[in-house]
Amino acid sequence: MSRLDIRPLTPDHSFGARISGITWETVEDEAVRQQVRDCFEVSGVIIFEDIEPSTEMQVAVSKIFGPLRDHVIKNMNRIDAPNVPGLVSIGSRPGEGTIVEVGGKQLADYVPWHFDACYTEQLNRAGLLQIVEQSADGGETGFADGVQIYNALSPEWREIAEGLEVIYFQGNMHHNQRYGLADDFRLIQLMDSSKRVIEEAKSLPRAVHPAVWQREKTGEKVFHVSPWQADGIYGRENEEGDAQLEELIGQMHAVVQPYWHHWQPNEMAIWDNWRCVHSAGGHDPAYARDAHRTTILGDYGLGRFENSRRPAPG
Ligand SMILES: [Fe+2]
Repeated sequence: MSRLDIRPLTPDHSFGARISGITWETVEDEAVRQQVRDCFEVSGVIIFEDIEPSTEMQVAVSKIFGPLRDHVIKNMNRIDAPNVPGLVSIGSRPGEGTIVEVGGKQLADYVPWHFDACYTEQLNRAGLLQIVEQSADGGETGFADGVQIYNALSPEWREIAEGLEVIYFQGNMHHNQRYGLADDFRLIQLMDSSKRVIEEAKSLPRAVHPAVWQREKTGEKVFHVSPWQADGIYGRENEEGDAQLEELIGQMHAVVQPYWHHWQPNEMAIWDNWRCVHSAGGHDPAYARDAHRTTILGDYGLGRFENSRRPAPG
């Protein structure tokens, strides 16, 4: 009999799962670990419920999926935990975060749709998040599936997207976002760590990733564009290319069927960073919020730094 309870994320979404039954005993059981990995391959997003809310458990669950890697950006806020590379804190104290206004509402720690590390050549396998300090008004996390987005695009837009590579630049954060920014977006306050990250980005090369790629095992095509940090269409950095990327991201926003997670105590969430995009909905700047994220090593092999082609395999 299974030692886990695995259920669909919701009745209405084509991706995602919920798992309960992860304990210190089951997390070390290889049969359970394989069951979780199999679920992840199929689902793309897993919400772990009724799980011990500790750094130790977060690391143990992360390692089901692979070794941890450090965060690429030096100026991320790291949590000092022995032998845990890349455990970062994402959040802010009351009034001290990056604050933006969207839809007439001020939000702290708001991050639009993106995949992590798009600005490097290597896409980590996954990120695993737990909320260590919840803001009183929620601070929801959105997840969306690139397979769903691809399938929902019109045949014309699928064909356009399949021919494109998108350039990413880490410095295109917040007010520097170039595509898909809400018309009424306004920057109110930029937190010091964001300023440092934007400054650090100036010394980093840009990266290039395909707008669509195909999953080997299932043959599914994945629309995988990060509006946050996109810097143009490779080989077409001109007015016409910029207009097409803006329109393509508009199409993505029109068809995406996101799942917004309302965090409950004792939960963690992992997402497939090769397949999904995610978003932080933001919260009332009057509250604190803190999320801890691990980064799980891996690569899908299709990205590159600009002007540095990878050698062919073998
Ligand atoms: Fe992220």
